[in-house]
Amino acid sequence: MYNTTIKLNGTVSLRGDKSISHRLLMIASLINDKSIIKNLSTGSDVLTTMQCLQKCNIHIEQNQDTVIIGGTLKSPKSTLDCKNSGTTARMMIGLLAGQKISSSFKGDASLMKRPMKRIIAPLTAMSINIKHNNNMLPISINAKHVIPINCKQSTKSAQVKSSLMLASLGSNQYSSIAHNKNTRDHTEKILEYLKFDILIQNKIKIRKSKIEKGFSLSVPGDISNASFIIGACLIIPGSHIIITNVLYNKTRLGFINALLKMGANIKIIKKEQGHNLERLCDIKVKYTPKLKAININGDEIITMIDEIPILSIIATQATGQTVLRDAAELRNKESDRLSLIYNNLVSMGANIKERSDGLIIYGNKKLYNTTIKHQDDHRIAMSFEVLNLLINNKMDQSYREIIKISFPEFYDIIEGLIQ
Ligand code: S3P
Repeated sequence: MYNTTIKLNGTVSLRGDKSISHRLLMIASLINDKSIIKNLSTGSDVLTTMQCLQKCNIHIEQNQDTVIIGGTLKSPKSTLDCKNSGTTARMMIGLLAGQKISSSFKGDASLMKRPMKRIIAPLTAMSINIKHNNNMLPISINAKHVIPINCKQSTKSAQVKSSLMLASLGSNQYSSIAHNKNTRDHTEKILEYLKFDILIQNKIKIRKSKIEKGFSLSVPGDISNASFIIGACLIIPGSHIIITNVLYNKTRLGFINALLKMGANIKIIKKEQGHNLERLCDIKVKYTPKLKAININGDEIITMIDEIPILSIIATQATGQTVLRDAAELRNKESDRLSLIYNNLVSMGANIKERSDGLIIYGNKKLYNTTIKHQDDHRIAMSFEVLNLLINNKMDQSYREIIKISFPEFYDIIEGLIQ
């Protein structure tokens, strides 16, 4: 349908997973020793977490791809600016509350509008004093005494679950936190691996722990960033790529599993990492001319929450009607992602319907390039650059600043694969 003059070919590896990078930095700040983290994400969201920790008396040295982190958390002298990063805000609030460190938090225009009640309500029940602006940032916390929580209702947000686990480290008594098995499980896995007092069963039981010995860990390649390269390879004729050393974790595999159901030519080669924290894999992807539409709903959405924008782009190239439901949470991300995907695809000529909790995308209709609306949302910008590459054989490359949030290497990696 498109006159493509380029294809993607080659082997790439990616910088570390953003979710795991945030967590390793925060958890390292709880240990009275130096820790070493290799292959940390280069995204500015992770830099934001580092800057917040530095303001709280944590020392961080960076040499190429290695970070050495240590020190004792202390109350920051000024407000912590979480910029665009929801993970930084929600998890740092839990982390500092658990350590009884008074602090205040703000963010950029997008983060200041994002919902915080999801952490404010349970943290308040833990006796943490929280001042907020109508359940949004700016927030200030004052925790003199943390009481354990018995959280019976599981949350669909890994950020909320993680914030509560970190806050629970402030009490000698066990908190009990119900958890949805589909939410990413990196926080509990890291805490368990480092021998914090945590028991992961149907509920997570966790309490104050004193860990004296630092760690040395390498972050697996970012599976969410891989999704953009996989997406481009699947829809651009003649493409064939391998991505090495990517995170292999079932809570993050929703996108790949959906693509396999769509008939995508993808092979996963599982590998060991020499320790039992997270696994790695290599992913082989080939252009797939006959992708089939798919229905995605329920808890499946959680396992691909950040990949829905690029999945929607791929769905425009599939045969049939792709139906995404139970995805209203996408309206609470860095932008209202359902609305931006819908509006941009409509203006490109797609046949698409918007529902309050999802989208219906009718595939195989010829699309035309246009200026997109992105509201500075990194994942929207990268998703539409992938479509641009298919339609125009080149990317706009005007979103460098925006995509730095999560994947600064995006343009260079794709340019390096183009033949
Ligand atoms: C994240 C969890 C998800 C995801 C975000 C990163 C994390 O958010 O969308 O990009 O690192 O815990 P929710 O937990 O709010 O769903």
